[in-house]
Amino acid sequence: MNQHPHVSRREFLAATSTAIAALPLAAADAGPGSSTLAIDGGSKAVPQAMPKPKRWGEPELAQLAQAIQQPSLYYWRNKQTALFTQRYQKIYGHKFVQPCSSGSAALHIAVGAAGIGPGDEVITSSITDIGTVIGVIFQNAVPVFAELDPHTYCLDPHDVESKITPRTKAIIAVHLSGNPFRLAELKEIADRHKLILIEDCAQAWGALYRGKPVGTVGQICCFSLQDTKHIACGDGGVVSTSDPRLGPLLIKYGDKAMNRLNPADSSNVIACNYRMTELQAAFVAAQLTRLEEIAARRSWLGELLTAELAGVAAIAPPKVDPRDRCVHWAYMCRLVPEKVRCDRPQFVKALAAEGVVFTNGYIATPIYGMPMFRNHSFFAGRWPIKEAGLTVMDYAKVKLPVTEAIISTCMRFPLNEAMDEDYIRAVAGAVRKVARHYAA
Ligand SMILES: Cc1ncc(COP(=O)(O)O)c(C=O)c1O
Repeated sequence: MNQHPHVSRREFLAATSTAIAALPLAAADAGPGSSTLAIDGGSKAVPQAMPKPKRWGEPELAQLAQAIQQPSLYYWRNKQTALFTQRYQKIYGHKFVQPCSSGSAALHIAVGAAGIGPGDEVITSSITDIGTVIGVIFQNAVPVFAELDPHTYCLDPHDVESKITPRTKAIIAVHLSGNPFRLAELKEIADRHKLILIEDCAQAWGALYRGKPVGTVGQICCFSLQDTKHIACGDGGVVSTSDPRLGPLLIKYGDKAMNRLNPADSSNVIACNYRMTELQAAFVAAQLTRLEEIAARRSWLGELLTAELAGVAAIAPPKVDPRDRCVHWAYMCRLVPEKVRCDRPQFVKALAAEGVVFTNGYIATPIYGMPMFRNHSFFAGRWPIKEAGLTVMDYAKVKLPVTEAIISTCMRFPLNEAMDEDYIRAVAGAVRKVARHYAA
């Protein structure tokens, strides 16, 4: 397990967390009577409040103050956008960077630049945010959902390859919860079939694949800067590439089809205004200076929680390749139904009574199970490409058993960088206590 490399726990907490209530940590595993669940009147395993990070402060204020001195807050060739771009390039190395208004915008820009058009197919995951596929639908293309790995919740390369047709143009790999997985295999498949690999890194700021930042394996990478992400500005996004053919198109698809690098290139496509402002750019330029600490800390805490849960039959923890760095946007694990005598809502309720927040799942259905997909009703109740015979896709018939099993058994712990070793051990103790009580 990697110890957090740069700061001591005390230094880190002083810098980023609110004070943790000075309550003693209860040893959930020890002591007479400690096995009675809190939900049944026993003592709480984790009495103190969940630590919360202080996410912004002086660096963001200082950068915003600089922006406010400027005569213009427009992004093109302006100072804050340049600073954000430069800091981003230092990490991700991409030559062409288009800051934009959201992660969904970044993904729409990516598919536009990739030349995705009516009837084209894009293979992706169906356990993700709807933003992964909004752009695909708006390009009049067809999201094709492939099966997932049961313990990383990332695309299963074998199933991806089986879904390639002559209409397939791209693969969007979603690094769910910040876990990159089998990316080289996806890239190899994409290359062999002449497809573009787009990385949806919205939940994966700071994640590493074989030591390299995620986003640098595929041709285009997309990040979200929405409020809940590792770094954020309320709403925002960024899309980037080093491909000289795709790079200018990122600007075009993010900026109303203008090719600002070559004004003579007249607009022959429709594209949205997805621009970011200088105020957002100033904020996230400062946020980027915090990224490495946040990513390293979350990775370490997540590995600690997995180690602490080893041997708990009721829980299947997330699988992380030891060569990679998963940054745990949330700590997503699965309940093993055969190993407990209760259902997921009851397990989560018992944990909440112990003082530990786990969510009862992630999204309610795979993306293909949402009413707009089942009814093919994307555009005022219609789906023109289906009416025109450009696709025979019927989302009501899609069935992905592994994906559906993940949906019905997953739970998420909102791990964050203000937590410390003692807190994570206490959380694990609470999980063990509840799992022991309901053991099948
Ligand atoms: C995996 C994934 N893709 C795309 C998005 C869309 O990002 P945004 O909310 O910034 O539009 C999100 C946001 O939650 C996400 O988690």
